[in-house]
Amino acid sequence: MRTAFLKASENSWLRERAPKHRFVRRSVARFLPGENANDALAAARRLAGSGISTLLSQLGENIELRSEAEAVVSQYRDVLARIHSASLPCDLSVKLTQLGLDLDSEFCFANLAQLAEAALSASTPRGGTIWIDMEHSPYVDATLEIHRGARAKFPNVAVCVQAYLYRTEKDVESLIAQGATVRLVKGAYDEPSEIAFPKKSDVDENYFRLAQMLLSAEARKSGVRAAIATHDGKLIARIADWAAAEGIPKDQLEFDMLYGIQRAEQLRLVREGYRCRVLVSYGSYWFPWFMRRLAERPANVLFLARNLWGG
Ligand code: FDA
Repeated sequence: MRTAFLKASENSWLRERAPKHRFVRRSVARFLPGENANDALAAARRLAGSGISTLLSQLGENIELRSEAEAVVSQYRDVLARIHSASLPCDLSVKLTQLGLDLDSEFCFANLAQLAEAALSASTPRGGTIWIDMEHSPYVDATLEIHRGARAKFPNVAVCVQAYLYRTEKDVESLIAQGATVRLVKGAYDEPSEIAFPKKSDVDENYFRLAQMLLSAEARKSGVRAAIATHDGKLIARIADWAAAEGIPKDQLEFDMLYGIQRAEQLRLVREGYRCRVLVSYGSYWFPWFMRRLAERPANVLFLARNLWGG
């Protein structure tokens, strides 16, 4: 079922038609506070009231025109200004293929640099980082290269790595040497077994190993800041226990989750003294992203079906 949803996420016929159905739109609403930036900022404000920081992300990927990427940058600059004026503990999370990576990597770099610069000058003590999402495996090299170049100029650029890829251990070694800011996820795309662990238990084990590397004394000494992005309660407990044994204070451990998923767990983490950040997506281009959320959890498919039968 996971593969079917991940294939559907890349299907343009479905992408055109499915969002027109009300039951699909109703199901998406659980994971999306709304389609525009106002909705996302309102959610960020509510979460901040509970001690939870946010990452805002405008949905969209693989844009085909330079003007589309320019519109995304301009929209994000406006959001950064609003984050700043409201003093929200809020960063941005961006996809390089939405900033023009498929068109021209220098153009994409320049777009990222504009955002990093705007975030630096608008930076609040709690915000100001531009996080780069990690997309499908053909983009990993280009993403890491752009991240490395951007970080040389802007210390507030961070990157995501995926535990399901065999290569990630080597990438993490290099990111530790750079003292980078890194978000660790399991990985949301359909990848072949030649490059990614096919078994979930192996992905989970690799995730734990990579988390240990990113939180190690060596990494912390090199300036690494790690965000542990997962909803997996067992992994969170295992990493938290290991970190406690290593003497890492709770307020130096950051757990990231997606909006609408494991809300009680988000509040529990904050109550217990950990940092918690929630990624809030917004925008109208939600179909591929929603298919990836369905692929992650069979219960979401039942939720979709209930919305269909419920009229
Ligand atoms: P896993 O899939 O094992 O789920 C563990 C438990 O969490 C499930 O049993 C369920 O209870 C709950 N859960 C997980 N997903 C759910 C869902 N969709 N709905 C309801 N419950 C769910 N990926 C990527 O490739 N590139 C990226 O840049 C990012 N960025 C990113 C940022 C942040 C903040 C998060 C939290 C995640 C990402 N991801 C991502 C997605 C990530 O790769 C992964 O697909 C999801 O986080 C699901 O994996 P888990 O680690 O939660 O574990």
